[in-house]
Amino acid sequence: MRINHGTPTVTSIGGRVGAGLAAAVAAFSCAAAHADIDIAANYQLRCATCHGSKGEGTDQKAQTLGPALKGNPFVINAPASALIKTIRSGRAGPSRLYDKGYPNMPSFGFELVPDVDALVKYLKTTLQETEK
Ligand code: HEC
Repeated sequence: MRINHGTPTVTSIGGRVGAGLAAAVAAFSCAAAHADIDIAANYQLRCATCHGSKGEGTDQKAQTLGPALKGNPFVINAPASALIKTIRSGRAGPSRLYDKGYPNMPSFGFELVPDVDALVKYLKTTLQETEK
């Protein structure tokens, strides 16, 4: 799991040229790893508490906080725009669908979910394929 890109430390190379080089290398490896690793970490950090670390939901837990996203027809079939709206706006008041004692789903702005397109893609693909 890796969400924090951090600041590259420059110990062995040293000097301004070395720092620039290290930063460039770090930026490159972040870009390469971005798609899977960072989005999975973003899901674990922001969504798993309520929707389960494998998308299985929390209906079986002591505290039921959210529905399963794995095998969920809305997640699988709804257009990406509908999922983006759910993530960006949350679910409260009249937009609530479930009557299970869940809390409201909070809204997630850019600072909490920087790449909403990639997160939606993750929900529709990788999360659906996760072993139970
Ligand atoms: C505090 C708990 C909580 C967190 C954190 C949370 N959700 Fe939810 N989420 C819910 C609840 C509760 C619902 C169902 C609300 C309703 O319609 O009654 C929901 C609904 C959804 C739905 C629609 C499911 C459906 O069947 O209609 C999606 C998609 C979703 N959440 C994605 C996410 C994603 C992605 C994240 C992380 C960025 C996230 N949620 C974080 C509680 C949470």
